[in-house]
Amino acid sequence: MNHSAVRILSNRDVKQALDASESELVDIIARAYQRYEDGSVINPTSAFMRLPSPPRSRIIALPSFSGGERPLAGLKWVSSFPGNLERGLPRASAVMMINYGVTGRVRTILDGTDISSQRTAASAAVAARALLSGRTPEVMGVVGCGPINREIINYVKRTVGSINRLCVHDLDPDRGERFAASFAGTDLEAATVSRIDDVFATADLIAFATNAIEPYVPERIALERRHVILHISLRDLQPGHVVDARNCVDDANHAFSSQTSLHLAEQATGRRDFLTATIGALIADPGLAERKFAGAAAVFSPFGLGVLDLAVAEVVENYCIERNMGTTIDDFFTV
Ligand SMILES: NC(=O)c1ccc[n+]([C@@H]2O[C@H](COP(=O)([O-])OP(=O)(O)OC[C@H]3O[C@@H](n4cnc5c(N)ncnc54)[C@H](O)[C@@H]3O)[C@@H](O)[C@H]2O)c1
Repeated sequence: MNHSAVRILSNRDVKQALDASESELVDIIARAYQRYEDGSVINPTSAFMRLPSPPRSRIIALPSFSGGERPLAGLKWVSSFPGNLERGLPRASAVMMINYGVTGRVRTILDGTDISSQRTAASAAVAARALLSGRTPEVMGVVGCGPINREIINYVKRTVGSINRLCVHDLDPDRGERFAASFAGTDLEAATVSRIDDVFATADLIAFATNAIEPYVPERIALERRHVILHISLRDLQPGHVVDARNCVDDANHAFSSQTSLHLAEQATGRRDFLTATIGALIADPGLAERKFAGAAAVFSPFGLGVLDLAVAEVVENYCIERNMGTTIDDFFTV
């Protein structure tokens, strides 16, 4: 093992590894959530850096450590610049580092953009599977037509095999139409709706992945017990919606921060008793969803854990090492 060497994996390398590993990722994410729940990984609070300009731009650092036979640590440095869409660039981009757990030395630097979107999508699929408790919806509601919801559709469809129709809504109607049209010729029939009310009326399973910074779903929309909501963008629902629902999070202290709908609800009510369970607890006890979530709408609000990125990055790294992919700089470190 050369501790002076660093392997660099480009987006093309990472994509190839992810394409080959897609079918494993839902189980890998479920295991990472369980390990987070039982305390065998370390996931410090993410560091948020909000920039004065362009508006709403931010870069977040997510460190993590995973113990066991081959301990490793890592960092994702992920930027979100919503104005990039107008420049024809994706909103988000990320780079990751993997360190040896024993020496702390960096051994791999890799593009983290697709790792980030796929771990998010796989986590949504894990939650959909758990919260649906065996129900088999045919229509999926899709609010926000960017790369995150595209990946979520892919992973949820694979995990909840019954989905055959998409009810699509975006604030920007052209983006919504283009997104829906891109499913032509696939086994998913996609139609757009201009009113968000129609998403709630049509679909039991709904994924939110917008770039909204404050709640906009009208209060007149009542969540019903048939609804399972993947609230990936965290700030779409009104505080009243989450107070009336049964809520599932990845980490409570993260999810109740940064002006998320849950955080706003806590500020308004002074309580958190509408938090029902963590996703790790649901995975560990498959009967829990049916016992605790049956009486009201279920809302999954994941803040996003660095340990998920690290788990997926390790899969990518192993794939690339086995095939000697990427560029290795043998003397990256001289000591
Ligand atoms: N929780 C997590 O772990 C996690 C991880 C990754 C990304 N995310 C979040 O997912 C979201 C989506 O990411 P993306 O890269 O696909 O974003 P994107 O910017 O490419 O697309 C967002 C879409 O949402 C639409 N939109 C904005 N406001 C809307 C509204 N009020 N109603 C309907 N549509 C609206 C925009 O027009 C745009 O088409 C981001 O908020 C990101 O922070 C969460």
